[in-house]
Amino acid sequence: MKNLDDLAVFGGIPAFAEELHVGRPNIGDRQRLLARINEILDRRWLTNNGPNVQEFERQIADVARVKHCIATCNATVALEIAIRALGLTGEVIVPSMTFIATAHALQWQEITPVFCDIDPETYTIDPNRIEQMITPRTTGIIGVHLWSRPCDLESLAEIARRHNLKLLYDAAHSFACSYKGRMIGSFGDAEVFSFHATKFLNSLEGGAIVTNDDGLAAKTRLMRNFGFAGVDKVTHIGTNGKMDEMSAAMGLTSLESLDEFINTNYRNYKRYQCQLEKIPGVSLIIYNKAERNNYQYIILEIDETETLISRDQLALILYMENILVRRYFYPGCHRMEPYHSYYPHAGLVLPETEKLVQRVLCLPTGTTVSPADIGQICQIIQVVVEHGREVRERLEKSEHWGRFLTEPPDHDRGFQSDLQTSDQLRDKV
Ligand SMILES: Cc1ncc(COP(=O)(O)O)c(C=O)c1O
Repeated sequence: MKNLDDLAVFGGIPAFAEELHVGRPNIGDRQRLLARINEILDRRWLTNNGPNVQEFERQIADVARVKHCIATCNATVALEIAIRALGLTGEVIVPSMTFIATAHALQWQEITPVFCDIDPETYTIDPNRIEQMITPRTTGIIGVHLWSRPCDLESLAEIARRHNLKLLYDAAHSFACSYKGRMIGSFGDAEVFSFHATKFLNSLEGGAIVTNDDGLAAKTRLMRNFGFAGVDKVTHIGTNGKMDEMSAAMGLTSLESLDEFINTNYRNYKRYQCQLEKIPGVSLIIYNKAERNNYQYIILEIDETETLISRDQLALILYMENILVRRYFYPGCHRMEPYHSYYPHAGLVLPETEKLVQRVLCLPTGTTVSPADIGQICQIIQVVVEHGREVRERLEKSEHWGRFLTEPPDHDRGFQSDLQTSDQLRDKV
């Protein structure tokens, strides 16, 4: 791409003939997976704590160096079960800068999510703002290790201890990551991983509750399986949160390629970083090299005062090139329903969240994204930013921009409400 007329948004041919997705699933050794599936079919043990699920739980606990792992059908149900097992009620403090599932898991049980702002350095829940949000109804805090960067774990533990609050972590992004050398998974009262198809390590759909607390582990195990403590014996309220054998087979196969997935993500991250670092006004969020990380998110920050084009304008240009970037987690939970109707002015106490959701774009990575793809994506960003003012002027006159403003693309989780439909139709995960 040499000049602006080559951009698809101005009539050029899209850089990618096929859509390039952010969360295209990593798939491990197909033969190993098929062998496991055959075994499952031969065994006719498809679900209800089968051998693959048990082995998956052992291996997840091993990587996360935590005593108990309770595998679930997804992370949302894992959060719901953990919230209930911890006895959370009333109000729970959460960041708004998260995927909507964190808030929904509370509201689903008629617990009020109280949205707290993020720290402008780490983008995770700001411990300095939590205490002012605590009321007599507050029973807990849910920290989210956003984009696999851990929360300020010591400060949160101290606040929870001082106020006698339960502390749960949404670690959906943070499997195989560490904080000060200790693996994510054993902090707080419990943590929750996601193994959804868009995560770097997937079990098709899947999640897990991990904890060192024996009592909590026993309780969540019961709750995951309708409260059954034995044949014909229900001792607890429960739900159906079980992981099935096919998912566990996929999870185990993925685990065999764990290092390969992380190495690929790391190489992709370094490539993006190297090619974007000279472009003024754009930067990638940084990962602490001293820690283990899965590098599953390539998050581009756009400083519009330097690029002269906005994050949304860059997003549109990239969509038109078939690069389906995402605005994770625009517009923030507090601006989505039902929370926006409940607390229309929540944004007033969330200034850092409000700024961040306007500034970030998630770029494609994973094993399906090649070095050449990254080169092309970065080149487009470079051409666009080099001609920021001109691109903006031309774009604002174009029909594409008008359409984007009234009807943004429906594949972006933040743009629409029916996530499942969108996932099935557009994300092809
Ligand atoms: C921060 C966060 N929490 C929870 C979830 C829900 O995970 P699942 O799709 O496994 O239910 C996600 C999924 O993307 C997430 O990003």
